[in-house]
Amino acid sequence: MSTEILMQQAVGQIQSGQLAEGLASFQLILEQEPDNVPALSGSGVGESLRGNHEAAIRLFQQAHARAPSDTQILANLGHACMAAGRAEEASSAFAKAHQINDQDPETCYWLGYLAEQQGEEQRAEGYYRRTLLLNPAHRQAHLQLANVLFLQSNAPEALAILRAAEARFPDDRDITFVRGRLAAKAAPGWHLPMLADPVRNDAFEAAINATVRPGDVVLDIGTGSGLLAMMAARAGAAHVYACEADEVLAGLAREVVSLNGLQDRITVLAKHSSALVVGEDMPRRADVLITEIFDSAIVGEGALPTIRHAWGALLVDGARVVPEGATLQGALAACPHLQCFRSVGRVNGFDVSPMNALTQPFGHRDAQVYFQASETSRILSAPFPLHAFDFRSAPTLAFETECQVPILETGDADSVLIWFDLHLAPGVTYSTRHSKAQHHWRLAAQPLLGISACRAGETATVKTRFESYFDFTVAV
Ligand SMILES: C[S@@+](CC[C@H](N)C(=O)[O-])C[C@H]1O[C@@H](n2cnc3c(N)ncnc32)[C@H](O)[C@@H]1O
Repeated sequence: MSTEILMQQAVGQIQSGQLAEGLASFQLILEQEPDNVPALSGSGVGESLRGNHEAAIRLFQQAHARAPSDTQILANLGHACMAAGRAEEASSAFAKAHQINDQDPETCYWLGYLAEQQGEEQRAEGYYRRTLLLNPAHRQAHLQLANVLFLQSNAPEALAILRAAEARFPDDRDITFVRGRLAAKAAPGWHLPMLADPVRNDAFEAAINATVRPGDVVLDIGTGSGLLAMMAARAGAAHVYACEADEVLAGLAREVVSLNGLQDRITVLAKHSSALVVGEDMPRRADVLITEIFDSAIVGEGALPTIRHAWGALLVDGARVVPEGATLQGALAACPHLQCFRSVGRVNGFDVSPMNALTQPFGHRDAQVYFQASETSRILSAPFPLHAFDFRSAPTLAFETECQVPILETGDADSVLIWFDLHLAPGVTYSTRHSKAQHHWRLAAQPLLGISACRAGETATVKTRFESYFDFTVAV
């Protein structure tokens, strides 16, 4: 049989999955013509398909020695080296192919992939960018470029790339999944339910309408989507400075503001408010502060130092503030659903107590832990005040109260349920006391360090201290 016919036969056999037969055909050719490059390379492909990566590498190397400028052989060698775990040799094969032809997107992609595997994200980024320049429809390069940008703390561009990829590949669920996963790491997931809380939004808008006057310079600290800043603009503010510490959110806020045609009246500043400089970020101090940076116990997102700093550096004397203040209240409660966070012992007859190494600190500096109340939570005491905040001047950063609290029901108090009333403007209050399904703030539950047995009719002395975390002491 002629070499030509043998070659056709071998290629056909490999393509149809008859690997042993194909390799035998290539072998016949090589016995007659040991330097036959297509036969060496074809044998390499066959060995690769059989999972014999080392044999494949040897064959591709022999082919490469005889045809040094054949980029396909170099690419095959690179893939075989990758499959054998020989990353450096793989990189060197792709790099040689790239030197010969720098217009091939696949070579660029694999050079990026190998650089990424070796932890060289910046180099990988360069190769992925070049891949997309050469082939904008390279799906995997979109994903990998987003990944290396994210690893280099450039979440805004990573997400922008994935959003563009979603538009290009609308049915590709993997891209949507990866975009969602990176978004969840970049910004907290409660933004959407928060924006969908109509009671919160309407209360803020009523207070903003009652507070902002035409011509005001307004500062919105923690603008998120830009919603409250847009409300202030609609209420007549001359200009709104909307600051947002999270870069991804700040980028989205800019998009939202432009989409609503308010880019000339709202400046989004991608900064933490403590880094704002009057004269640079905003021309003068603001007449009105609007801020919604409250967690379910008011203080957990740093509201106190932020508002205190604003009074010192960013607001005119006598500035108006939304909200004007808040009252935080609590009640002793039994929360059986939180018991499981305290400790484990025996489970199905096995001692799993070493897992207690994972218990969370219930009250510790920088480790504020609130849980949510559940329908099984049982309130045992009358409500008691934790603190009344007045934001119309600089709030103190720490507070302490002591209350005599009537016990209404007998039970083991293991938690304090916490809720707040936000005094947004005179006559406009938002309360989390009876939070409903559409409210995004939930009744918070802060486990007590110890458990106190309470009996109906008794009085408990509850001391509350807050200084970066809540510390409750209960004496019955
Ligand atoms: C609860 S969200 C509210 C978003 C928006 N104000 C709204 O009401 O729809 C609070 C946002 O404030 C931002 N933030 C908190 N403290 C900040 C500060 N001191 N400076 C800038 N941004 C801050 C957080 O990153 C978060 O996006």
